[in-house]
Amino acid sequence: MPRRSILVMTLMILSPVAMTAVALQPPTDPPSYSQITPSRDGIGKVYMGREISQVMGHRGAGWLERASRVREELPDVLVDHLQLHPDAEVADIGAGTGYFTFRISRLVPQGRVFAVDIQPEMLAIVEKRMARRGIDNVVPILGSIDDPKLSAQGVDVVLLVDTYHEFSHPFEMMRGIYRGLRPGGRVFLVEYRGEDQALPIKPLHKMTQAQAKREMAAVGLVWEETLDLLPTQHLMVFRKP
Ligand SMILES: C[S@@+](CC[C@H](N)C(=O)[O-])C[C@H]1O[C@@H](n2cnc3c(N)ncnc32)[C@H](O)[C@@H]1O
Repeated sequence: MPRRSILVMTLMILSPVAMTAVALQPPTDPPSYSQITPSRDGIGKVYMGREISQVMGHRGAGWLERASRVREELPDVLVDHLQLHPDAEVADIGAGTGYFTFRISRLVPQGRVFAVDIQPEMLAIVEKRMARRGIDNVVPILGSIDDPKLSAQGVDVVLLVDTYHEFSHPFEMMRGIYRGLRPGGRVFLVEYRGEDQALPIKPLHKMTQAQAKREMAAVGLVWEETLDLLPTQHLMVFRKP
C-alpha cells in the first residue's frame, strides 16, 4: 500500500482533526512523466496519459489578438463569469499579450492582475500596453517553466486560457499555483473541448474534462463546476479547499 494511504488510514483511526489537516494538504509526491517520440505539435513528454504540446511562440502574438476571437471565444462573457470583487487579486497565467489580463484589470479597479508568462517578449507587449493605456493594476511576472512565481496564498483567482496544455511541467506549475492561491480560491481552466472530435483544433491543444479533472486532483484542487458558456471551450472551475 502507498505510504500516503497508510498515513491517512492511521490518522483516520487516531484523530479526526489530524485527518482533516491531511486532507487539506496537496500531494507532494513527485510526478511521473514518461517520454515518447514527439508528435508533430508535441514535446514527447507524457503526463497522466497526455502528451504535452509545444509552447506557442511570441511570433504568434498577432493570432491571440485576431479580431474574430471576440466572436469565437466570447472573452467578455468568460471574464464576467469569474465573478470578481473589485478588489480581487487575480493571476492570469500564460497571459500572452494580455488578451484576458486587460479585460480583467477593468473589473478589479481596487485589485491587481498578475500577468505571468515565460516569454519576455509577451511581457514586453503587456508592458507596452500598460504604458499606452496608463494602467497601473497589472503586474507582469516572468515565470519559469516549473514555477509561476506567485507569492504564497497571494491570489483569489487564477485564470488559465489555452495555456495549461503547454506546461512542460504541469505538476510543478499547478503545485505552485495551488500554493499561490488563498484557501477557498478558484482556478478557472479554459481548454478546447477534447471530447469534440469535429472541432478543428490540433489534438494536443484540446483537453477532455475527465483528463483535466484528474490532473487538477493530482495537486489537491477540487472540481466545482463546468460552465457551458463558450462555443468551443470548457470553462472548468476548481477550488482550493
Ligand atoms: C496559447 S498562449 C495563450 C495566451 C493567453 N492566455 C490567451 O488566451 O490569449 C499560451 C501562453 O502560455 C505561455 N506559457 C507556456 N508555458 C508557461 C508556463 N510554464 N508558465 C507561464 N506561461 C507559460 C506561453 O508563453 C504563451 O504565451
